[in-house]
Amino acid sequence: MIRRMYRRRFFCLVSVFLITAVLCCLIYERVRSEKLSTVLPRTESSHGYDMSPYVQLLKTIPPFWDENGDAIQNTEDILYIDAENEMEWKRRLPNALVIGVRKGGTRAVLDFLSRHPNVRVCPRETHFFDRQDNYVLGLDWYREQMAMSFPNEITIEKTPAYFVIDDVPNRVFRMSPSLKLLVVVRDPTIRAISDYAQLFEKANGTLRSFEEYITEDPQHRILRKMSSIVTTGIYVDHLNRWLKYFPLEQIHFINGEELIKNPVPEMQAVEKFLGLKPFIDENLFYYNETKGFLCLAPAAGMKGGGGHSGCLSESKGRPHPSVDEDVVTLLRDFYAPLNEKFYRAVGRNFDWD
Ligand code: A3P
Repeated sequence: MIRRMYRRRFFCLVSVFLITAVLCCLIYERVRSEKLSTVLPRTESSHGYDMSPYVQLLKTIPPFWDENGDAIQNTEDILYIDAENEMEWKRRLPNALVIGVRKGGTRAVLDFLSRHPNVRVCPRETHFFDRQDNYVLGLDWYREQMAMSFPNEITIEKTPAYFVIDDVPNRVFRMSPSLKLLVVVRDPTIRAISDYAQLFEKANGTLRSFEEYITEDPQHRILRKMSSIVTTGIYVDHLNRWLKYFPLEQIHFINGEELIKNPVPEMQAVEKFLGLKPFIDENLFYYNETKGFLCLAPAAGMKGGGGHSGCLSESKGRPHPSVDEDVVTLLRDFYAPLNEKFYRAVGRNFDWD
């Protein structure tokens, strides 16, 4: 009697186990197929998905291109790819970072790059390397913030605070010593005014004037040299911190002024630096009268631009306050020798003085 009861219980347990296992398999298969169907068109082929466009894509798009537009064959020359399993559509750690500078034009660079067929950008600033509460979440968390990518595409994140925060170069290096770094630099005096315009808006117009904000005395003759609005523009100091970990060849500087007026050559230089196939040209942009800036033209196949102007948000290209000439001169005099040092360090004259 007791034995029969145990036997019945045993069969019940086995049945429950088997049913659970079958249900788990079904759920797993369902989730997997939903993930896959976001990238691959469903067809009547034997396994339900037509893999051919994917395979074709891998075959026809070599990973990177050299200066002449030829495919690079030597894998050592190819940009680092987080490559546990390159055949997957998955999230990967970035291959390149836009590390600064704040108000230099970083969003424009990221938006323009996002149009490149071999680039996936992380849409938001993760602040992974500069904020301890994010950094402690680890690289798996960071990877989860990235966009999904195919193999042979490069992933780019931008957080302009990275350029100026002490711990960041070491942390970035520990993630990937071969990472490529992009820095958009802009006349530091104009950058400071742009930074102030943003702070003013965030403070709902309650901030003291730029002249008062940036100086220590009522006559506005002594600069608040230690305030971040000023120190951010000391590019040479920030660069020197990065150079302790990364060689100059791994850092590319984009001219923020040129980026506004004539972005094509600047962006083509970025493509070359990243080893990307040449793609960016004049056809990518149009001048938007209302915005007063160049904006991205509707992408091929995008009907009517998807109802989107292709311009950056209103927080980009704000009007600047008019600033007392003496204070502008104070800033210019302060930055002039530092700019000279920066030009020498990077081997390029940005003509800011
Ligand atoms: P202003 O708002 O001072 O004009 P960031 O994205 O790093 O915060 O930089 C913002 C700056 O990007 C803007 O500063 C703007 O001048 C510049 N910029 C460059 N190209 C732009 C574009 N096509 N549209 C809007 N802003 C652009």
